[in-house]
Amino acid sequence: MKPASRAVHSGREIKARTPLAPAITPAAVHVYADLDDYEAVASGERPGYFYGRNSNENRSMLEAAIAELEGAEAAVSSASGMAALHMAILALAPRPTTIVATRELYGGTLSLLRQDLEPSGYEPVFVDVLDLDAVSAALNGAGLVLLETITNPLCRVPDVEAIVGIAKERGVPVLVDNTFATPILCRPIELGADVVMHSATKYIGGHSDLLAGIVAGDAKTIAAARARSVRMGGTLGAFDAWLALRGLRTLEVRIRRHSENSLALAKALRDMPGVAAVHHPLLEGSPSYEVARRLLPDGAGGMLAFDLAGGRAAVQRMMKRFRMVSFAASLGGVETTISYPEITSHRGLSPAERAELGVGSGTVRVSTGIEAVEDIVADFEQALAG
Ligand SMILES: Cc1ncc(COP(=O)(O)O)c(C=O)c1O
Repeated sequence: MKPASRAVHSGREIKARTPLAPAITPAAVHVYADLDDYEAVASGERPGYFYGRNSNENRSMLEAAIAELEGAEAAVSSASGMAALHMAILALAPRPTTIVATRELYGGTLSLLRQDLEPSGYEPVFVDVLDLDAVSAALNGAGLVLLETITNPLCRVPDVEAIVGIAKERGVPVLVDNTFATPILCRPIELGADVVMHSATKYIGGHSDLLAGIVAGDAKTIAAARARSVRMGGTLGAFDAWLALRGLRTLEVRIRRHSENSLALAKALRDMPGVAAVHHPLLEGSPSYEVARRLLPDGAGGMLAFDLAGGRAAVQRMMKRFRMVSFAASLGGVETTISYPEITSHRGLSPAERAELGVGSGTVRVSTGIEAVEDIVADFEQALAG
């Protein structure tokens, strides 16, 4: 099946006389009438559910669907993308080691590495992942590589295929945050990555109404991640799992529109007053253009960024003039929203660190929605008009 059909059908079997829309099972616990039966289910010998922290029908459906879409053997969900990321790192690197990560990293991930993992002995090393020589040098003696398929906020695309090749030669596992690309546009496991994680809060859910995370990979790694997740307790609630699966069913059509709209908006923004630079991987001249065309042949999703020459004052002025677009510190919803990395995703970095990444006081990140592209472009045009 093609990804569009898998998004609709994966994780379930449609049978006669069963509901087409799955039921929500919020039960914390299931009742048993036989000790042997309970033991068989609790030990995994027999399929079934017994306690909500261990497993739940809605979570199982979501996990099976994402595993299928990512081309992975298994998946495990969690209460948020950050919980998924933590779970994935501990599954691949359970003991302190060097983690080579993209320097243009989601701010929450950077904080997790610096404030939680570094004090427990891990050593994060940040590299420019567009520079394969730098990646290669950093990988000596490393225990994990952490990449984002499309980086946040400047939307660069590392050559995951080439980096996986270098990492494999050294026996270093590769973890990819595939939140921005989704399995519709890129399936890193097919490119050789070991594990993929998502903030399902974003495109998979797609409607800004849930928090969820998911990790997909080989059965052994996911079983270890699941066991730890049961012990630590950051499990996903049934309703959010149900909503995430509901969102997933329309992921392909949404992503197609997000991708078309973001590229059209990126092109239009280049000619708007006050715009100093536009960052979109499929814009000619982007440092990621060639890699993005190869790794993201069906589009680059809804994210883009641009720099306003007038800095924070110009961003503030544009925001106040928007009629349809809103400011919201998240992404991946059906509405077009902007965020301002200096005080949102990248607020934990010093001004010098932000400057090194190319994130300045005029940098705006856009999560392009699925509205009519004419309306999106027109709103930016009138908001930026002199
Ligand atoms: C790329 C990326 N990864 C991970 C996360 C964390 O996800 P969550 O907010 O669901 O914990 C985010 C959130 O913005 C993100 O953008």
